[in-house]
Amino acid sequence: LTGESIRVPLGDRSYDVEVGRGLLKEWGARLHACGARGRVALVTSTPVDELHGETARRSIREAGLDPLALSVPDGEAAKTPAVAAELHERLLDAGAERGTWVLALGGGTVGDVAGYAAATFMRGVPFAPAPTTLLAQVDASVGGKTGVNLPRGKNLVGAFHQPELVLVDLATLDTLPGRQLAAGWAEVAKAALIADAELFRYLESSVDAVVERRPEAVSRLVASAIRIKAEVVGEDERDLNGRRALLNFGHTVGHALEGAAGYGTLLHGEAVAIGMSVASRIACELGFLSPEDETRSRSVLERLGLPVRLPAVSVDAVLERLKHDKKVREGRVRFVLTGPIGVASLHADVPHSLVRDALASLTSAGDGMTPSHGEPHP
Ligand SMILES: NC(=O)c1ccc[n+]([C@@H]2O[C@H](COP(=O)([O-])OP(=O)(O)OC[C@H]3O[C@@H](n4cnc5c(N)ncnc54)[C@H](O)[C@@H]3O)[C@@H](O)[C@H]2O)c1
Ligand SMILES: [Zn+2]
Repeated sequence: LTGESIRVPLGDRSYDVEVGRGLLKEWGARLHACGARGRVALVTSTPVDELHGETARRSIREAGLDPLALSVPDGEAAKTPAVAAELHERLLDAGAERGTWVLALGGGTVGDVAGYAAATFMRGVPFAPAPTTLLAQVDASVGGKTGVNLPRGKNLVGAFHQPELVLVDLATLDTLPGRQLAAGWAEVAKAALIADAELFRYLESSVDAVVERRPEAVSRLVASAIRIKAEVVGEDERDLNGRRALLNFGHTVGHALEGAAGYGTLLHGEAVAIGMSVASRIACELGFLSPEDETRSRSVLERLGLPVRLPAVSVDAVLERLKHDKKVREGRVRFVLTGPIGVASLHADVPHSLVRDALASLTSAGDGMTPSHGEPHP
């Protein structure tokens, strides 16, 4: 089996992200090589279990480990304190101890709740995710952020807990619906736009191959995006010195849009794509990004099948949500802006009026779907 290892450099908490096609068949052996022994808890959701659970369990058993299957609800419904507590109870039922490994097989939601359960069970047990969505492979599973949602907001409870090993089997993406895949490509484009102009050029030149899911293009891009995330995390593990904040490119407006459109309407990656499109507009207005590079940024996203204009929500509804964002201070929104492509910086002083104009210029003009006031259209 081919594959490559990407090191996340965190001193004695360093770990490898293994990337390759078919790696799930070797998961057990690689876990064993990292120190897993005996009983291991395998957290997954039913849809993922049906597609990839058997391969995972077989490889775990072949390595002499004993997988205890723990099922969580699919999607965002998994990310609650109650589900985490249920995982703790099931771990206790199974006689789990300080050294028991918790594995996650699934998207970012499974990884976030399983990682949080692992971070908090007996003050922390070893954690090893095998992410199965593109978004989780290039973003959620690397960096040690774990957590659950509260009714008042997403990711309000959590912990930093670095994994022992991350196993990225690119073959699991074969079963991923196109819309979910595109949402993951938004985060790959983000990584290129903020940190790697050469990677962005490669993405531009290989969009057709990407859309056709050609393995070489997929593997090169996924590995490159993981390398960027690993490097940023290595420099700012706890999100304290501003480096990790650059990963929020597109996310200020993205988060506001996710809420304004009604949670579940836009996928996270779709909202981020629109957010990057808006941020690029602002960066161009401020003179950081040339008009050509603004167009290039947006057109790659479009060609990946991502939205780059506001859906049927009002500009005011988005601005209202931005106001409540913790990144806002005295009418000025904190934005990550790119310019030139491959370079990102944090701006604490973007005037509200500029944000409004950028949003207004990116409404889905002419389709009659964008009211200027009030709630989103049904
Ligand atoms: N911890 C972090 O640093 C971090 C970073 C980014 C996002 N996140 C979190 O990640 C979550 C989103 O993750 P996601 O986009 O993976 O969503 P998800 O986990 O809900 O998965 C999306 C859907 O894809 C299905 N699925 C998963 N793998 C599949 C496969 N191989 N084939 C077919 N279907 C498959 C799932 O059943 C699910 O219905 C959010 O909760 C977000 O907050 C966390
Ligand atoms: Zn994101």
